[in-house]
Amino acid sequence: MAFLSTTITILCIFCITRLPRFASEIPNRNSLQTYIVHVEAPDAHLTSQSEDLESWYHSFLPATTASSSEDEARLIYSYHHVFKGFAARLSPDEAKDMEKKKGIVSARPQKLLSLHTTHSPNFLGLNQNMGFWKDSNYGKGVIIGVLDTGVLPEHPSFSDEGMPPPPAKWKGKCQFNHTTCNNKIIGARYFNADDQSPLDDNGHGTHVASTAAGSFVQGANVFGSANGTAAGIAPLAHLAIYKVCCGESDALAGMDAAVEDGVDVLSLSLRSDPKSFFEDSIAIGAFSAMKKGIFISCAAGNDGPDFISLANGAPWILTVGASTIDRTLRAKAVLGNNQQFDGQSAFQPNNFPQRLSPLVYAGMLNTSDDFAPLCPADLLSRSDIRGKIVVCELGEIPRIRQGTAVKDAGGAAMILINFRIYANTTLADADVLPTTNVGYEDGLKIKAYINSTRNPTATISFQGTVIGDDRAPAVAAFSSRGPNFPSLGVLKPDILGPGVNILAAWPTSVENNTNTKSTFNVVSGTSMSCPHLSGVAALLKSAHPDWSPAAIKSAMMTTADVVNLAHSPIEDENFLPADVFATGAGHVNPSRANDPGLIYDIQPEDYIPYLCGLNYTNRQVGTILQRGVNCSVESSIEEAQLNYPSFSIIFSGKSTSQVYTRSVTNVGDPASRYDVEISPPRGVDVRVEPTTLKFSEINQKLQYEVTFKLLASAPNTTFVQGFLKWTSPNRYVRSPIAVILA
Ligand SMILES: *[C@@H]1O[C@H](CO)[C@@H](O)[C@H](O)[C@H]1NC(C)=O
Ligand SMILES: *[C@@H]1O[C@H](CO)[C@@H](O)[C@H](O)[C@H]1NC(C)=O
Ligand SMILES: *[C@@H]1O[C@H](CO)[C@@H](O)[C@H](O)[C@H]1NC(C)=O
Ligand SMILES: *[C@@H]1O[C@H](CO)[C@@H](O)[C@H](O)[C@H]1NC(C)=O
Ligand SMILES: *[C@@H]1O[C@H](CO)[C@@H](O)[C@H](O)[C@H]1NC(C)=O
Ligand SMILES: *[C@@H]1O[C@H](CO)[C@@H](O)[C@H](O)[C@H]1NC(C)=O
Repeated sequence: MAFLSTTITILCIFCITRLPRFASEIPNRNSLQTYIVHVEAPDAHLTSQSEDLESWYHSFLPATTASSSEDEARLIYSYHHVFKGFAARLSPDEAKDMEKKKGIVSARPQKLLSLHTTHSPNFLGLNQNMGFWKDSNYGKGVIIGVLDTGVLPEHPSFSDEGMPPPPAKWKGKCQFNHTTCNNKIIGARYFNADDQSPLDDNGHGTHVASTAAGSFVQGANVFGSANGTAAGIAPLAHLAIYKVCCGESDALAGMDAAVEDGVDVLSLSLRSDPKSFFEDSIAIGAFSAMKKGIFISCAAGNDGPDFISLANGAPWILTVGASTIDRTLRAKAVLGNNQQFDGQSAFQPNNFPQRLSPLVYAGMLNTSDDFAPLCPADLLSRSDIRGKIVVCELGEIPRIRQGTAVKDAGGAAMILINFRIYANTTLADADVLPTTNVGYEDGLKIKAYINSTRNPTATISFQGTVIGDDRAPAVAAFSSRGPNFPSLGVLKPDILGPGVNILAAWPTSVENNTNTKSTFNVVSGTSMSCPHLSGVAALLKSAHPDWSPAAIKSAMMTTADVVNLAHSPIEDENFLPADVFATGAGHVNPSRANDPGLIYDIQPEDYIPYLCGLNYTNRQVGTILQRGVNCSVESSIEEAQLNYPSFSIIFSGKSTSQVYTRSVTNVGDPASRYDVEISPPRGVDVRVEPTTLKFSEINQKLQYEVTFKLLASAPNTTFVQGFLKWTSPNRYVRSPIAVILA
C-alpha cells in the first residue's frame, strides 16, 4: 500500500487561514510529493540507535537519488516514536516501487490538515481562589503540547510571572530566533521547511494556546466588546508549542517530538478526512502518545450540522464538539416597524447613530443575479447604498469581504443573515463596519419587512457584553456530528466545550480577518472548544497524577451536564433539544469531573481486540500499534464491547438482542453503593445486571452486563437515544446510549 500525504485543516470559522501548502498540488506522475512511509518494526538493536534507524530509512529511498545531498532533500522527517517510518519527497511511480520493497508497510501521499477560539473559565465553573481551580492548582506542573500555527511568545497571556520552572523530565527545545522561552512557554519548535521559527504568522495557534493555558491578563478586550480578566483553563500549566501547520507529515513530526519531549496533554485543533484509523495520521500518532500516558484532545470538526461530519473519532482520542457560552456580544437590529432582532458582533461602536437610516436588501439590487444577496463588491459599487444599512446573506463570500464591500460603497452598516443551516448560531466577529449577524428566521422577517414597505428603515443598537444567556450551552450549528464513520460502534463526539465567540490572545502583528490591531480576538470553531478540554485535562491530571488518559476521559464524560442554564435539555442551533450525535455525553463540568465516583478505564492493550474486531488486516492493525499483530490469534470484540463510557449500538436487521459488559473502577468513597437508572431509547429494551454495585474499597473493579433488545415497537427513524446512570447518594455516573436502526 502507498498513500499520499494530504492536507490538515485548521478549524476556525471565518478565520482567514492561509491556504495549506499542498492544497493546490495536482498529482503528476513525475512531480514529487510528500509521502508518509510506514516500515515494518525493525530489529531491536536498530530501534535503540536512532542513527542506525535513520540509515535504515535512507536505504529505502529511490536509487536514482545518487548524491547524498539529494538524498537529504528527499527525506523530510524520520519518525521514532509515533511509528517507525519517515516522510519523503517521492513521485507516484517511485512510491509504487517503494511499496514493493520488503520491509515497507505503506507509502501514502500526505494530506493537509485543517485548523478548527475569556469568560469561559467562569462559565465552566472555574473561579479564582476557590473550588476545583484552586484544588487542582490551576494545572501547575502539567505540560500541554499544542500542535498548531505556532505562537507569539511576547503576548501578555504567556507571561511566566508566578510560574515554576519546567519539571525535571522536560526535554524540549526552544527554536525562536528573536527570543528565548520562559517558564510558561517551555518549548517551541517548528516542523515546516518554509518556516524559520515557531512564531505564529496566523493567529490561530496563539489563540488556541492561550485558551488552554494562558496566564491571567487584566483588561483584555476587543473593541471594548468584552473587558475583564482573560485566562486560560489551566493558567499554571506549561505550554510546549509545535508549529506544524498544515502538512500531515509536519503534524506527525510534531507529535513524535512532543512524545519525546515529555508533554502530558496534547491539543490538536486540526483535522484530516480519513475513512479509517490506519490511514489517519492523527489517530496513529495519538495511539503512540496514549500508550505513553499522554492525554489527547482533538477538535471534532466544523462541518456540522450534517450527520457523519465528524473527524478525530478514534476511541483513544477525546473528540470535542463546540457549544455557546452565556455571554453574547449583542448588536440588536431595530426596524422602522419597531421589530427587534438580537444579533452579534465583536465590533461594538459606542457612537452609532440611533436614528433610523434607509434599509436595503442586496438581493433586491439585482434580482437576476443569484449572488446579489451575498453583497459582492462589484454589485455594491454600482449601487446607491451611501448612508444606508445593507442586508447581506452569509455565503461563499468571506464575512470580511462582505463588510469591506458595504463599507467601500459608502454603506452605514450591515445586517448579515445566517445560512439556513446555521439557524440561530450567530457569530461575533471583529467586523470592519457596524454589523450584526442575525439568525436565519429573523433574516426572513427582516426581508419580509423590506418587501412590505416603500421606505424601509433600521438602525443597530450595540449593547456590548451581555452575560446570562440561559440557553447556553447550546450546540453550535457548525459543530461536527456523529455517527462516527470509521467506527459506528463508538459514540462520538465525546463531549462539548465552549467554542462560540471565544475571546483569547491574538498577535497584533498578524492581520486578522478584520484588520483589527488588537491583542485579543474573538473567534469561533471546534478549534476553540478543543483547547478548553485540553486545559480541563491538565487540571484533572494535576489533581489525579495516577489517572490514565481513558480514566480522565471517563471522568469528564460521565459527569458532563445535559441541561442548559435554564435546566432544559441542551439545545441545538434550531433551539430544539440536541441529539446525542451533537452533544456526545454533554457539556464538560470540570468540578464534577474531579470527583466522578466511578471510572471506565481502558488499557492500551484493550484496543487490540477492538481493532481486530473492526476487521482490519494484521498490517493495518500493526500500523496503529507499531508492532506485529496476528488478529487470528488475538481475541476480537465488537466495537461496543470496548470499555467506553458511552454506548453506540447498531441493529442491522439480523440480531435483535446484544449483550455487552462494562467494568467500573471505584475512585470515590471506599464503601459505596450505586443503583442503576435506565432511560431506554424508544422501542429498545435495556436491561442491566446486576442493578446494584456495592464497593468496599478504592480502586475496586466491578462488572455489569447490559442487554439491548430491539422491540417490535421501535419507531421508523434512523436512530433513537437514551442513557444509563449509576447513582449513589453523592454522585451519578451517566452514559449516553445511541441506537442506530440501520
Ligand atoms: C475595563 O474595565 C476596567 C475595570 O473594570 C475599567 O477600568 C476600564 O476602563 C474598562 N475598559 C474599557 C475599554 O471599557
Ligand atoms: C431559531 O429559534 C427560534 C426560537 O427563538 C425559532 O422560532 C426558530 O425557528 C429557530 N430557527 C431558525 C432557523 O431561526
Ligand atoms: C416581495 O413580495 C412579492 C409579493 O408580495 C413576492 O413575489 C417577492 O418574492 C417578494 N420578494 C422578496 C425578496 O421577498
Ligand atoms: C467484521 O466481520 C464480521 C464477520 O463478517 C461481521 O460480523 C462484523 O460486523 C464486521 N465488523 C465490522 C465493524 O465491520
Ligand atoms: C496467524 O495465526 C494463525 C493461527 O495460528 C496462523 O495460521 C497464521 O499463519 C498466522 N499469521 C501470521 C501472518 O503469522
Ligand atoms: C419509514 O419512513 C419512510 C419515510 O419517512 C417511509 O418511506 C417508509 O415507508 C417507512 N417504512 C415503514 C416500514 O413504515
